[in-house]
Amino acid sequence: MTDADVTSTLSALTLEQKASLLSGFDFWTTKSAAGADVPAMTLTDGPHGVRLADMDAGEMGLANAKPATCFPTAVTLASTWNPALLERVGGALGVESKALGVSVLLGPGANIKRDPRCGRNFEYFSEDPTLSGDMAAGLIRGIQSQGVGSSLKHYAVNNQENDRMRVSADVDERALREVYLASFERAVAGGNPWTIMCAYNQLNGTYVHQHKWLLTTVLRDEWGWDGLVMSDWGAVRDRLAALEAGLDLEMPARIGHPTDQQIVDAVRAGDMDEALVDTSVRRIIDLALRTADAREASAEWDQAAHHELAREAAAEGAVLLRNDEVDGEALLPLDPARSVGIVGEFARTPRYQGAGSSQVVPTRLSTALDALRDARGDVPFAPGFAIGEGPASYASAADLIAEAVRVAQSVDTVVMFLGLPGAAESEGFDREHILLPADQRDLFAAVAAVNARIVVVLSHGAVVDLREITAPAILEAWLGGQAGGAAIADLLTGAAAPSGKLAETIPLRLEDAPSFGSFPGEYGHVRYAEGLLVGYRGYDVRDADVAFPFGHGLTYTTFEIDDVRVAASGEGVDVATTVSARVTNTGSRAGAEVVQVYVGDVESTVLRPVRELRAFAKVALEPGESTVVSFDLDDRAFSFWHPVLQRWYVEGGEFEVAVGSSSRDLAATVLVDVVGDSETLPLTELSTIGELRRHPALAEEMEELLASVEPALMAMINDIPAETVVSQGWIALTPEKWAEFLERAAN
Ligand code: GLC
Repeated sequence: MTDADVTSTLSALTLEQKASLLSGFDFWTTKSAAGADVPAMTLTDGPHGVRLADMDAGEMGLANAKPATCFPTAVTLASTWNPALLERVGGALGVESKALGVSVLLGPGANIKRDPRCGRNFEYFSEDPTLSGDMAAGLIRGIQSQGVGSSLKHYAVNNQENDRMRVSADVDERALREVYLASFERAVAGGNPWTIMCAYNQLNGTYVHQHKWLLTTVLRDEWGWDGLVMSDWGAVRDRLAALEAGLDLEMPARIGHPTDQQIVDAVRAGDMDEALVDTSVRRIIDLALRTADAREASAEWDQAAHHELAREAAAEGAVLLRNDEVDGEALLPLDPARSVGIVGEFARTPRYQGAGSSQVVPTRLSTALDALRDARGDVPFAPGFAIGEGPASYASAADLIAEAVRVAQSVDTVVMFLGLPGAAESEGFDREHILLPADQRDLFAAVAAVNARIVVVLSHGAVVDLREITAPAILEAWLGGQAGGAAIADLLTGAAAPSGKLAETIPLRLEDAPSFGSFPGEYGHVRYAEGLLVGYRGYDVRDADVAFPFGHGLTYTTFEIDDVRVAASGEGVDVATTVSARVTNTGSRAGAEVVQVYVGDVESTVLRPVRELRAFAKVALEPGESTVVSFDLDDRAFSFWHPVLQRWYVEGGEFEVAVGSSSRDLAATVLVDVVGDSETLPLTELSTIGELRRHPALAEEMEELLASVEPALMAMINDIPAETVVSQGWIALTPEKWAEFLERAAN
């Protein structure tokens, strides 16, 4: 259908029909328009698998859905640092959505991981907007390649679960632009989602679903996005204010659909322009057209192939945190000649996805225990601790530990599966601490006392405190989806090599987190007190020790990054910089490295993080193989958001361009001189002496005027408004000269 077709469909609709299209029919579907070519659409979760409620099951329960492939959750997918892989996963999600008749899959989530305690961190990608946005864009491209819409969510600053439907996220403009919105901006630019789901919360005192600056000025006028904005489920408080702000579709339906009539009445009373209604209805029609193919539900797809893709993604998303040598040899990959014992209920009862709306009923479920026994024969197993969803035949905690210790004493190497039980982290609430359960920490201590050769495998969605987990080898497997168990076995045996990198910092302890002390807020407000300094930006500015830094991840070979070259050209918004580096596999096994590029402003008049991720590339190399990776950085790689000029701004001067294999393992740092923006702050009556001295048109003359001022006085008056200094004759700047300066600076 062309634009003209949309217009003719629209013109055939009555006002009542148009208003009715702007809210859901029921929990998961939109309305159709009788007699007009506007079909109903099914919208459903979620970001890592299709959760299509099985209405035959008679309830809307989270677990009563039709089976679909449960892919690794976002925390795992992000740790692959591989947008191309996410595009493939998105493609599979699109195929399954189409097979199940779903027009829009409600994901990905691109909210920044502000604090380790957020209950939905498993469902989000990163603490960094570049990585988060690029991973979201990959998934969006994949889903939509199948003619199924995605829904980038939850726009915006939904960074906690506590009080999420009311709390006001109080965020300063630079942190909002440079971190929280930047993740969505990058996903929009790289993926062009057909829909965006707005969040429940408020931004600086205004509900996001009624926030015209956010939903229209930024999203549409600035970013040029033209899709459909839907509400999060039950988020709408004032439908008319929301429609005015740019919220097109209220989901789900309210009993009796009262807001449809509110819209009709407002237009009839002249309080709302019908053109506004038409604009939103046009977006509904456009979405229905874009997703037309998604409604031929075939209910068929290659389940085995999707399971293998899930296995590949889970393996690539696991992060090898530590692999220290014991008696001269690294424990991983497991030595076939060494006996192995398995400890930990998660080996038998996998923790493979998060709780809440994203929950999937998997088509099948692999366990690490079965997969390891397939690979290594009938290795001994002890659960070690009890979890709610495990077997009911548990002995006492002490007996469980004693049994595990006996296994540990009988083998060369212990593989211990630890992590967070499903009930510990979920949509809807935040954690209050980041400790592993006490029984697991006791188990580790008891086993470590009898056998030092321990490989710990972690299954959880948000970072945990690892200070007590002193194992020589730690594999962070996150939530690996239905094939996560098999993927873990592939990595432990060496059938696959780890290549994941941390998409978020693992702090030594929660109290070190930059957001600690201002999360999750109280009495309806949460202050983003750390501002820009979220995640590694906060740890790096303090040069704080961390357990494992952003971007960290080991493998079974070694790499060298050298010959880093940086060339800058252009100025201001036309700054263009090319960065290249050679990466070599210097080990004896094939592997993949993620080359990361960070940029830092050496000297700035505003607060800037020490370094920020601006580009990355994952390269697979055979032993001895080298390749050169190149990156093109535009002005945004050097910019900050200028709150006065209200735009992205490059402040000229020296920048550090660092290239490495993590944010703290930087192979080389190159200084580059960048010519900045010429535009300067407008001068006003309250401009300070210091601002006059920095103004290009006045700097030379000001230095002459101030030449005789003694340094101590100069230091005192630098931050005083010139008008005050002039009016009291402190320096030889006369009122006439001051007036001339203002005149000159204004032109
Ligand atoms: C939930 C979630 C959102 C989900 C929607 C539908 O409250 O916040 O991510 O897509 O409702 O289940």
